[in-house]
Amino acid sequence: MPSLLESDLKQRVLEENRRLHALENAQYLDRHPEQTNRYQQRILRQTLSEWDRLLARPQAQLLEAGCGTGYLYLPLLQRGYRMTGVDLSDTLIQVLQNRIPDRHRGRSRLVAADIEAFLKEETSDYDGVICSALLHHLYDYETVLAELARRVRPGGLLLIFFEPLRQTIRSPFRFFLHRRLAALDERLYTRSMKRRGIPLIEDGGMADYQRRFGGLCPDRLAAVVRENGMTVLRTTTYCVRRHAWAAWLANQVLGTRNTFNLLARKTQAAGA
Ligand SMILES: C[S@@+](CC[C@H](N)C(=O)[O-])C[C@H]1O[C@@H](n2cnc3c(N)ncnc32)[C@H](O)[C@@H]1O
Repeated sequence: MPSLLESDLKQRVLEENRRLHALENAQYLDRHPEQTNRYQQRILRQTLSEWDRLLARPQAQLLEAGCGTGYLYLPLLQRGYRMTGVDLSDTLIQVLQNRIPDRHRGRSRLVAADIEAFLKEETSDYDGVICSALLHHLYDYETVLAELARRVRPGGLLLIFFEPLRQTIRSPFRFFLHRRLAALDERLYTRSMKRRGIPLIEDGGMADYQRRFGGLCPDRLAAVVRENGMTVLRTTTYCVRRHAWAAWLANQVLGTRNTFNLLARKTQAAGA
């Protein structure tokens, strides 16, 4: 049973997420070129190809938790999967609903809800579960992750994508260059948003709750999914930047990391 202080804090994180993501609206992905630049698009394409190959169930039923405006939801729907998308923000759910082509609507179900409440209410299992840039927004991400892992059917997949990596700084010089590159990337980003007339949203504050602790630790996430019957297939770390050239420099030259993905498979039932 959470203490009064804990449940107040949890409620505040939820409210801040509702408020912040309503501001993001239809311009969410325009404001986040770190998700759409060519460098990151390549990572996304490779991840989805690996997903198709490993899942090998073309009509699979998938759940995306925190689907936002459809960064992964739309390409997965286009690949023929049957999708359920859950997001706290009814504004973003409406944006995504309007983006779904008529021919795909029959395979799509969108729900505006807190993922924890949704999982309590609905007991379905899925062939695959995805969450992209969601877990660091949650007050209690471990409970949610454990429940998401439990809902994956035997042989099915769980993808955690684009989460901020909690890291230890080993080389102060490399860290200095990493910060300088980040500052330049950010300055150019601010200018380009101004030029395009896209208002910037303030810092995530309480909505980005887990960033207060320096991000998430892939080893901890791996332990949670293993405790819930999954095998970790791959953890990938990389550096995200607003511009593709900056991401290339960070990854290929500096070798710095600030983000990770984790892919896991539910163990097959004995004799299956
Ligand atoms: C950084 S955005 C990522 C959106 C999308 N997955 C993407 O990768 O572009 C985080 C999303 O999580 C949603 N979110 C935050 N807290 C949530 C919660 N408790 N339950 C469901 N969705 C939540 C937000 O509304 C937002 O759409």
